[in-house]
This record gives sequence, structure tokens and C-alpha cells, in this order.
Amino acid sequence: WASSSARAPTFLRRRVSRRPKAMASAHPSQGLPSGMDPSMVDEYASQSKLLQEFVKIPSIGKAWVFTSKDENASRAMVSVSQSDLLANKKRSFLLNTHISKSSSKSVSFQWSPFPVEMSGVSAVVPSPSGKKLLLVRNAEDDDSPTKLEIWGPCQLENEIHVARSVHGSLYADGWFEGISWNQEETLIAYVAEEPPQPKPEFNDSGYKKEGSSQKDFRSWKGQGDIEDSWGETYSNKRIPALFVANISSGEVRALKGIPRSLSAGQEEADKPSTDSNKGDTAALVKLTADLSSAFFPRFSPDGKYLVFISAKSAVDSGAHNATNSMHKIDWPTDGKLEGSLSVSDVVPTVMSPQDGCFPGMYCSGLLRFPWLSDGRTMILSSAWGSKEVILSINVASGEVSRVSPQDSDYSWNVLALDNNNILAVSSSLVTLPQMYYGFEDSHTDKPCQWDWQEISSPFPKPSDKVSSLLADHKFSVIKIPVSNPSDKLPDGAKLPFEAIFVSGKDSASSPTIVVLHGGPHSVYPSSYSRSLAFLYAQGYNLLVVNYRGSLGFGEEALQSLPGNIGSQDVNDVLTALDFVKKRGLIDASRVAVVGGSHGGFLTTHLIG
Ligand SMILES: *[C@@H]1O[C@H](CO)[C@@H](O)[C@H](O)[C@H]1NC(C)=O
Ligand SMILES: *[C@@H]1O[C@H](CO)[C@@H](O)[C@H](O)[C@H]1NC(C)=O
Ligand SMILES: *[C@@H]1O[C@H](CO)[C@@H](O)[C@H](O)[C@H]1NC(C)=O
Ligand SMILES: *[C@@H]1O[C@H](CO)[C@@H](O)[C@H](O)[C@H]1NC(C)=O
Repeated sequence: WASSSARAPTFLRRRVSRRPKAMASAHPSQGLPSGMDPSMVDEYASQSKLLQEFVKIPSIGKAWVFTSKDENASRAMVSVSQSDLLANKKRSFLLNTHISKSSSKSVSFQWSPFPVEMSGVSAVVPSPSGKKLLLVRNAEDDDSPTKLEIWGPCQLENEIHVARSVHGSLYADGWFEGISWNQEETLIAYVAEEPPQPKPEFNDSGYKKEGSSQKDFRSWKGQGDIEDSWGETYSNKRIPALFVANISSGEVRALKGIPRSLSAGQEEADKPSTDSNKGDTAALVKLTADLSSAFFPRFSPDGKYLVFISAKSAVDSGAHNATNSMHKIDWPTDGKLEGSLSVSDVVPTVMSPQDGCFPGMYCSGLLRFPWLSDGRTMILSSAWGSKEVILSINVASGEVSRVSPQDSDYSWNVLALDNNNILAVSSSLVTLPQMYYGFEDSHTDKPCQWDWQEISSPFPKPSDKVSSLLADHKFSVIKIPVSNPSDKLPDGAKLPFEAIFVSGKDSASSPTIVVLHGGPHSVYPSSYSRSLAFLYAQGYNLLVVNYRGSLGFGEEALQSLPGNIGSQDVNDVLTALDFVKKRGLIDASRVAVVGGSHGGFLTTHLIG
């Protein structure tokens, strides 16, 4: 199932050797691991040094913008992380900056001179006014409490230690996560691991402890009901439950009324918050009875709409991931949820995109506050073919526009909104992430023209070696026509798919690595990937194939894969390889293939 994250390091151990075997044995080597000769020791040492140079490069995480009364001045925090390979640790830190706009198209960022390390912090959640900051410190062991710290402008205002008997770790995973402040900034609602239920206890010899019932003795029931974890990437998460903390009294209580068979997540407070959250029992109303999936709920700033995303195409078809749709509910102004609320479409599932047009929504997250000041336009990131793009969606009209540059193969992600401007990050497979500030151009008749200004950031230049390796490579997104499409396929499944080709100076004489994502319903975007960069830095071309079934190409192309797995996807990869071979872009006698999960399944097919 594993999605796009590259599993390259495993592959490195099996790198394609350019040295004939006979030569290796001509250097009898003592004291070296078998198969190593002295020249390889040097080569591995220099690879290891280069790997550390790549790994040291900081990566941008989230950002928060704090606006002020002066529309031309705001402040921002950017979370950044840096890996320490030898210690097998990741350091996270916050950078602060002042943003000043001098004209409608010019902005300058004044960064604080040093970052502040955030060790042991699992989540950073500013309050709506920006006057308070919640830091969550999940315990690293099973006995310590979870700590919630409430910071003011220059001091720790309160610290709440929540015992393990109340709840375990807070969920800060981007899926269940939903840490939110109420409008008055007195309460914090969040999702955390429910404490384990008491179970009858037995030791290895099946001894019955006091208090457990005679009939459970020596039976499997003595162990209690199994509580499964959520599996891959959520393996230590079992039962997410809702809690509310009062930040002045430090009192934490579980919200009652939610059955244990439901997993709470992604909560969003009604705005303005109503009296309904004062009690500690939730009245549950199912808002989306006719829809098999609904997530990432967001109220419009005026509280008139509840907008959310749905993966109904995936759930209804049984695919593990598919094209998303966006919907809204007209929210009753009196807050009374009796009677049926009707759900209407904002962005439907796109079946077969017109050439160059919106391929449908593929959304991996939403900003906490994704709205422009009209209160109707939502800004979000989505996959569009092999690119990540920034979209603006008018939830009233359903109009979707591409906000990030149209003529670029780079990938773009929204970091935060600054009133009506966008703080974004852009990168490519051969370009390190760079921050941009986007202004909507109000001087043209064409809607949705955005100007992007590169922001001076304090990130250091990478080492000379890394800089020149990146500069020596280029990438292109290639459209590859489907070979011999069957008549039975719908139109959307006959559209070209894409591959990303990364090449160095003499690509035609270099070996090539075909890189395949897992899923199969995921995608390798054109954004910077440390592991892929390290691979091409070793002198390989990369051919990253987003075979049909990948996200970002419309629903018909995606659904054409189930039922044809192991043939259609394998053939698409071979078609892509033929495409670059026929154009003389690669040395076709030296091709390797790497992939994890579904990409590993394809790898074994292709080796065959
Ligand atoms: C913000 O900048 C714009 C453009 O320079 C200017 O017209 C406006 O008056 C400024 N606003 C404030 C509050 O200074
Ligand atoms: C199980 O517990 C009983 C009672 O405490 C004890 O007598 C027995 O030795 C224990 N068995 C094991 C394997 O620990
Ligand atoms: C939070 O606790 C304080 C102090 O005990 C109390 O006065 C206040 O009413 C509580 N706030 C809410 C919203 O429950
Ligand atoms: C489905 O795709 C989205 C991107 O559209 C991604 O964020 C998410 O992790 C994927 N989910 C699964 C289960 O693969």
C-alpha cells in the first residue's frame, strides 16, 4: 500500500556497478567485507559524505501568519526541520519573520537572526487571535504525562500535565489531528488516545487474578478484546477520542456521548462558538447520511456553509484512494440541526479531464483557515498530473482556478494565507524548496492572475558539491501516449499518462533508474525529493513513471487499473521506457528499476 515516499536507500546497496566483476577480484582485499575492494571503500566514503550533505539541507514544514491592524504588516512563523543522519534524529525549529508590503506587488521579509529549536514538540497551534500559542509535548514513554503548554508573547502562561489515565498521546498526524481553540480562547479541543480499558489480568501460566470471572479463566477472553491499531503510519494509534481542556483551570475532560466504535478526528468548532460545547456530552448528528465519505470540514468565516471533502469515489469503488470531491452544507443560522440538511456539490469528481484542464481534486490536507477575505474562496493544494498545484475554489459558484504558475512544471504547496495573499513553497526534482509570496493581480480583467515573488529566506546555500550537482541536472514532465488502448476503455483511460525524466550532462550514455511509486493510487510529484536527488547525483538518469492508476489524472484513468494490475501498469512503464529510448535520451542497455510496495510489485514484474 505504501504511498510515494521513496524507498531508495534499500536500493543503494544494490547499485548498478560499472566495474566489471573480474576487476574487483583482481584486488585481493584483506580485512574488508566480502565483495569490497579498496577503491570501493573510497567510493563509499565519498558517497556517505555526499549523503550527509544532502541530508543536512533543512526542509520547510508548516507556516503560520499573524496579521495585524496594519494591512501591510504581518508576522509569520515557519517550522523547519533538519535531519541528523548519524544520530538518526530530526531537529525541528521555528523561524520568525516580519512581513512588510510596500506596494501591491512588493513584499519584504525580515527574518529573526536565529531559529529556536522545538525539541520534543509534537504540535504548534496558535490561537485564532494569535495572542496565545499551544505547544503539545507528547510523552516518549508509557508512564509520563502528555504536556500542554500555553504560551503568551513572552512567557509560559500555563502548563497542563495530563495523566495517562486520562488520555495518551495527542494525535498530530494530519489525519485524525484536529487541535482547535474556541473563539474565546479559553478552551482547547483535541483528539487523543483513549486510555486502555481495564482487562482481566493473567500471567503466563493462566493464573486467574482476583476479580476476574471464573468463566474467563484460561480462555482467550482473559486477554480482553483486541484493540487494533490503525496500521501503517498509524501503528501506535488505536482509539482516537475527543477531549476538551480548560486552559485556565487545567481541567481536561473527555467528551461523552461518542460511541467507542467511532473514531473521533478533525474536529472544527462551529463559528461563532455556540453554547452547545459548554456541556460535556456531545449530541451526535450524522450530517452526511447519503455520502460514504466526508472529511476536512471547514466552516465558512460567516458560518453559513460547512464545506468538506469526500473520498466517495474511492469508498464506493473499493479503490484505496481516488479522485476527491468537495461538498457543502448550508448551515442553519440558528444552529438547530433538526430536519434534514442538504448536501450539495462544490467540486464534482472529474471523470475525464479535457486537455490541459482541471483533472479533479486530490487533496492531502487543508489549512486550518483556508479562506480569502471574500469568505467564499478557499485556497488549497492538490495533485494535477505529476505536479502539485495551488487551487482556488469558490465554494458558492464551484469555480476552480489554478493559482500557482500555469506554465511551470514545478510543484507548489500553500503554506499559509496572509489576508488575500499566499505564502507558498515551490520546488522541483532539481530545485530545492523555495518560498514564494503570491499577490492576486487585481489590474487585469482575467480572473485569478497571480504574481509570485520569490522571498529572501535565511536558508543557507547547500554545499558547492550539492549546488553543482543540482545545477547540472534538468527534469521534464513527459506526456506518454497509451500504447494500443483497448476499445473497451473509457475515454479518460486512453489519455496520455506522464513520466518525469531527470537527466544530467551526458544522459544518453548514463545508466537509468526507473522509479515507481506505491499505492497503486498515489503519485510521484515533480517536487524536490532528497532520496531521488541523491540517486541522480550518483550519475543516473531517473525515469519516474506515473502509470495509469496514479492520482492527478481524472477518475476514469485511475479506475482503469483495478482488474488490470500486473499488465496495464507494467505495460505503461515499458511504454515510457520505449519513449525515452526511441528519442535517444538514455543508454537502453543499462536500466535498473526501483520501487516500494506496489512499486516493488511492478519492479519484480519488470525484472521478469
Ligand atoms: C498599504 O499599502 C498600500 C499600497 O502601497 C497603500 O495604498 C495603503 O494605504 C497601505 N495601507 C496602510 C494601512 O498603510
Ligand atoms: C502466576 O501467578 C501465580 C499467582 O501469583 C504464581 O503462583 C505463579 O507462579 C505465576 N506464574 C508465572 C509463570 O509467573
Ligand atoms: C475554566 O475554568 C475557570 C476556572 O476554574 C472557570 O472560571 C471557567 O468558567 C472555565 N471556562 C469554561 C469555558 O468552562
Ligand atoms: C490518498 O491521496 C491523498 C492525496 O490525494 C493522500 O494525501 C493520502 O495519503 C492518500 N491516502 C491513502 C490511503 O493512500
